[in-house]
Amino acid sequence: MAADTLVYVEKFVKPGVSLLEIDKIVYDYTLSQNAVPATLGYHGYPKSICTSVNHVVCHGVPDNYLLKEGDIVNIDVTTKFDGFFGDSSKTFAVGKVSESAQKIIDTAKEAMEIGIKAITPYGTTGDIGFEINKFVTRKGYSTVKEIGGHGIGRKFHQDPFVPSFGKKGKGEKLIPFYCLTVEPMINEGTDEILEFPIPGSSHSHYETKDKKLSAQFEHTILITESGYEILTLP
Ligand code: MF3
Ligand code: CO
Ligand code: CO
Repeated sequence: MAADTLVYVEKFVKPGVSLLEIDKIVYDYTLSQNAVPATLGYHGYPKSICTSVNHVVCHGVPDNYLLKEGDIVNIDVTTKFDGFFGDSSKTFAVGKVSESAQKIIDTAKEAMEIGIKAITPYGTTGDIGFEINKFVTRKGYSTVKEIGGHGIGRKFHQDPFVPSFGKKGKGEKLIPFYCLTVEPMINEGTDEILEFPIPGSSHSHYETKDKKLSAQFEHTILITESGYEILTLP
């Protein structure tokens, strides 16, 4: 459902649409499926999605900002249905974007895919982070260190933390039937980020310190005895 929501929302991501309109579209679509937008009221978070534009790294709160040609926007959808959470995000290009904006989008997507491919049953979270960081830094970008993927299931966020950097064989063991997200955030410039409290919430939103672009993709993955299964493919 989280994956289908991202497919559904794509046609609305155009110059002139407000982040609040996209939030409302996701809210209505989710309720129409008898599901629940998981971020709404989560530790006081006020909206149904996160919308992170340009230099916003993650947890951007939808407001009346109008998307404009050339922006990039990550839309992060978490759906709760039948007691389980599914979490997926994508960075969209708004209209025609610069070559450099398209390049960070493409690299973020590939970084997530490379992270997922590093998953092996009884491997570690460090295997995932190592491959992501190696790929991203070779492309000339940096990875965000403070925030990353997480276990997920009957809870939205649980152990293990899934970093976008690390050492092979280090970190937490990946046990079959763990479910987790791989969601690297990558920055055009410095990996330093600034934290801004979200009023009424124990969560914060984050921005790049140098105001350069940041991009992210996210899937929810099930570890199996023989490998893994991506649960948020549309
Ligand atoms: N969906 C985000 C994640 O990938 C979490 C958003 S929590 C919120 O983990 F409170 F900021 F919405
Ligand atoms: Co997540
Ligand atoms: Co998410």
